[in-house]
Amino acid sequence: MAAEDKCPETIYDVKTPSFLVDIDVIKRNVTRMKETCDRLGVQLRPHMKTHKTVELGEMMTNGTKKCVVVSTLDEAEFYATHGFDDILYAYPITQQKLDRCRRLAEKLEKFHMMVESPESMEALKTTPRGDNKNWSVYLEIDLGLGRTGVEWDSDLALTLAAEAANCPSIDFLGLYVHSGDSYLARGPDSIRQSGRKNTDKLLQLKVRLAEAGVTCPSLCMGSTPGCSHPDDSMAQLDCFSPGNYVFHDTMQMRIGTCEESDIACRVICRVISHKKSQNKMSIDAGFLAISHDGMELGLAEGPVIFQGHPELKLLGMCQELGSVGTQGTPLDFSKYPIGSLLFIYPHHSCATAALYKNYYIHSGEKIVGVWRPTRGW
Ligand SMILES: Cc1ncc(COP(=O)(O)O)c(C=O)c1O
Repeated sequence: MAAEDKCPETIYDVKTPSFLVDIDVIKRNVTRMKETCDRLGVQLRPHMKTHKTVELGEMMTNGTKKCVVVSTLDEAEFYATHGFDDILYAYPITQQKLDRCRRLAEKLEKFHMMVESPESMEALKTTPRGDNKNWSVYLEIDLGLGRTGVEWDSDLALTLAAEAANCPSIDFLGLYVHSGDSYLARGPDSIRQSGRKNTDKLLQLKVRLAEAGVTCPSLCMGSTPGCSHPDDSMAQLDCFSPGNYVFHDTMQMRIGTCEESDIACRVICRVISHKKSQNKMSIDAGFLAISHDGMELGLAEGPVIFQGHPELKLLGMCQELGSVGTQGTPLDFSKYPIGSLLFIYPHHSCATAALYKNYYIHSGEKIVGVWRPTRGW
């Protein structure tokens, strides 16, 4: 928002498209996750990637500004500059990023990194911090998702853990997992099943490490579905690192992580054109306001939800325009006059939030704040 812009009073006064965040839903989501972690006796190390704001970082850490995860160095620097500490940069490290990591490590009381390859381990071993302190390092484990991380049942997992534990310039913190396979689950029972399976694999690896003489101080696992509906066995973990739970989205809803009423963010947009001959209309939100995320799934109902209008379907998007129709029924254009407002629950809130310079924070209809996320890498 430009300095000269007047802060809108209500959600109906914001320019369209804009990104709205319901502070009351956020508070519920934050409290629920904290209670879940307290109940299981695990530490919450929330991920900041979904929102990338100071304000929500403070809320998610219960005001401590400590013990967070980030996915870019820009985020790490942003949070460090705003007084946060105990930051885990949970992204495979490479030699080229170590200078920035060193500066963060010097500035913060605790800055942790993640390795998952012989190359990154070598980079850390041959590039000591230079201030007589150690790099603080998790080993990233792949439990079957196949994204990054060293395979949980591989010999390489043992080798890298042993190298980290035995290297005099490294403090080995333990194992870190993004349990992204929970996104394939459907419903709380199936989510819990994946949590049980993942916990079991991680504990098996911890035992194998112990047998090889490597002490694994901490097991950290995170995903919003998995941590929202944890299996009781996950109490054996030390730390949860979910992020998306603050906003949620229609993807989480379809997985069965949350209800529509738990989704804290919406894109507000306007109907700008009717194409009656084709039973569709246009809105002033295209892929730069909603993101393309989810379109590739070809869902019958489309990737997003138009709040209060289940008959509407997002048909397609170009840069600044969205095309909206129905799933076959005639579109009642009288319900959607040109200039009228629509509220969209995004498919993937991380991707949609990333498109905005400002988030308009509201309680009920009243705008109560404007938050500015960090951007970049
Ligand atoms: C490394 C890592 N940890 C934790 C998370 C948080 O997971 P979620 O977005 O399901 O909350 C992510 C998300 O992509 C991640 O990449």
